[in-house]
Amino acid sequence: MIRMLSMRTSEEVMKMSKNDLLLEVKNLYTSYGRIPMLLDVSFRLREGEICTILGANGAGKTTLVKAILGMVKADQGSMTFEGEEITNMPTHKRVAKGIQVASAETGTFPKMTVEKNLRLGAYNINDPKVLSERLEEAYESFPVLKDRLQQKAGTLSGGERTMLALARAYINKPDLLIMDEPSLGLAPIVVDEVFRIVKRLNKENDMSIMLVEQNVVKSLGVSDYGYIIQKGQIIFEGSPDAIRDSAILDNPVMS
Ligand SMILES: Nc1ncnc2c1ncn2[C@@H]1O[C@H](COP(=O)(O)OP(=O)(O)OP(=O)(O)O)[C@@H](O)[C@H]1O
Ligand SMILES: [Mg+2]
Repeated sequence: MIRMLSMRTSEEVMKMSKNDLLLEVKNLYTSYGRIPMLLDVSFRLREGEICTILGANGAGKTTLVKAILGMVKADQGSMTFEGEEITNMPTHKRVAKGIQVASAETGTFPKMTVEKNLRLGAYNINDPKVLSERLEEAYESFPVLKDRLQQKAGTLSGGERTMLALARAYINKPDLLIMDEPSLGLAPIVVDEVFRIVKRLNKENDMSIMLVEQNVVKSLGVSDYGYIIQKGQIIFEGSPDAIRDSAILDNPVMS
């Protein structure tokens, strides 16, 4: 497979000073046992940017997220976060450095109440005053949760659970928030709300966001830049307009 187009020209990449770059994944290879998965994946995310990764089921999106978190080993290649080499850093250290994943599927404890989930999520916050301020902020930003603090997370609707996962991540104010398919299984109106919140976290809290999605239209609508992954390889990258203008979205594997 050939890389079809690289929209960040080498001039742009040169201009992107080291300080602008929050996360850089360079020529990454990973495998599951003897089966290769990610093949020469390079990915850059600038500070303050929402960057989307689009791809069909099984394309390798979650594998890339796991590699960034250190949950899947890099066979080759390197990763830096805020200019520091993280390629072989354990997961908890990456989280402590400010990388956080919000996942409705795996990011909440179903048997615990919403409040307990939020408190447990705030593991980086030791000062009780800061914690109560952050909880108040989270209730303001995610009002649907405030009415359900004593409800078990497992009984929340899909949309509410997504909000809880986002709120848990938000409380820690990570430098990089990674969302793995936040719109999955949600009704269109709830999807719109989730994407509005994503945009607000980015704008008002200056949070850089990596948005892993299959909802091409919505995610391009909020993103500054995008990558398309297919069978473990980045096959296209560019601005949302460049992606929309390309024929890449007509590719049957993207539908
Ligand atoms: N632990 C594992 N062991 C073996 N194969 C795996 C493992 N995890 C994932 N895979 C395989 O790697 C491929 C990529 O999986 P991945 O979860 O990265 O896809 P994805 O793009 O996130 O897909 P989806 O949109 O369905 O979540 C799939 O074919 C999957 O079956
Ligand atoms: Mg996935």
